[in-house]
Amino acid sequence: MSTPKSAANSAQQAVTRAMFDEVMVPNYNPAKMIPVRGEGSRVWDQADTEYVDFAGGIAVNCLGHCHPAMVSALTEQGNKLWHLSNVFTNEPAIRLAKKLADATFADQVYFANSGAEANEAALKLARRWALDNHGEQKQQIIAFTKGFHGRTFFTVTVGGQPAYSEGFGPKPGAVEHVAYNDLEALEKLMSEKTCAVMMEPLQGEGGIISPDQEFVQGVRDLCDKHHALLIFDEVQTGFGRTGSLYAYQQLGVTPDILTSAKALGGGFPIGAMLTTATIASHLKPGTHGSTYGGNPLACAVAEAVFDVVNTDEVLSGVKQRESMFKKLLQDINDRHNVFKDIRGQGLLLGAELNDTWAGKARDFLNAGADEGVMVLIAGPNVVRFAPSLIIREQDIIEGLARFGRAVAKLAG
Ligand SMILES: Cc1ncc(COP(=O)(O)O)c(C=O)c1O
Repeated sequence: MSTPKSAANSAQQAVTRAMFDEVMVPNYNPAKMIPVRGEGSRVWDQADTEYVDFAGGIAVNCLGHCHPAMVSALTEQGNKLWHLSNVFTNEPAIRLAKKLADATFADQVYFANSGAEANEAALKLARRWALDNHGEQKQQIIAFTKGFHGRTFFTVTVGGQPAYSEGFGPKPGAVEHVAYNDLEALEKLMSEKTCAVMMEPLQGEGGIISPDQEFVQGVRDLCDKHHALLIFDEVQTGFGRTGSLYAYQQLGVTPDILTSAKALGGGFPIGAMLTTATIASHLKPGTHGSTYGGNPLACAVAEAVFDVVNTDEVLSGVKQRESMFKKLLQDINDRHNVFKDIRGQGLLLGAELNDTWAGKARDFLNAGADEGVMVLIAGPNVVRFAPSLIIREQDIIEGLARFGRAVAKLAG
């Protein structure tokens, strides 16, 4: 029989960062401070120190913290109906699916709870579609090195960073990788055995890498030629992040399956897989599912986020903010010469460190936090910015002034 824990461990005890190391599985190593509240693009920690938030919960908080439209959708739904499971459907889920279908190439939507789950559904659907239409030999899934698609065993295997997928036993098979933007390599690998190609229309975690226009078109053409499905993982690029509802809408290439999460819920966990009715028909009742997928609270919040984000005002505002960010980052670089490239689209931006600072992106993140600004990294060489899509001009100016001071401290 286990011994009861002491009264000192009661819920009344002050919460400290040291307790994290004690009671949480050590797969994360969060910052030393604990944020306790947020408003717009500002966050306060336990000591009431204030931060400008350019991290946005890793490209999630597209309307900043506690946006009134989201708070009211959540409280309103919270007083009506929280959960049913998929034995029943619910109004928010149907309304959200209709809005997503009307705004994209897709006819039908499957709801999940995260990006990885949306991608897991996409990959399973592609395999089932290929089996039904072409037989057992059509299994190959091709993805790209440095790509990131989540942490379930299937999605992490399809992701192009072996360090994340190794050490867990036998991986799901028939998954292969080529370099992003290398159309020739893809062409060599593809055949009638290819079931699907999965890609991000701008690699996020891999270092903010945009695809060449000819590459994306070439991938689409190769998929058509070999009767393979093209899956766009828009978990990070989607929901306004690059200045259109989805990034594919600026690329002139339409995928067969698209996945969305992160900004879709603006901070409430939700994921979605969007596709055509013909492809969707292969996920017949019972083939796939989730207890929480399409939860009314999540869908009500996502609907509120959709109504704000999918407007000309917000989407064109993303482009204006992109220019401002890039200009101010360039000013910092003119003073301190630390970046060799400032890139990205919309408000998914990366500043790649030059050779003097190679491998030190985390030092910039830490120095930023010390000056009161939250930034992200994308690999060891890139400082990443994924703020709220409606961040105020004065928050961009103040946050980058703080980041500039952090860079000055590091670079002198
Ligand atoms: C492109 C992409 N796909 C999938 C995921 C996984 O999403 P989640 O962490 O919600 O499972 C991420 C997360 O960073 C991502 O950037």
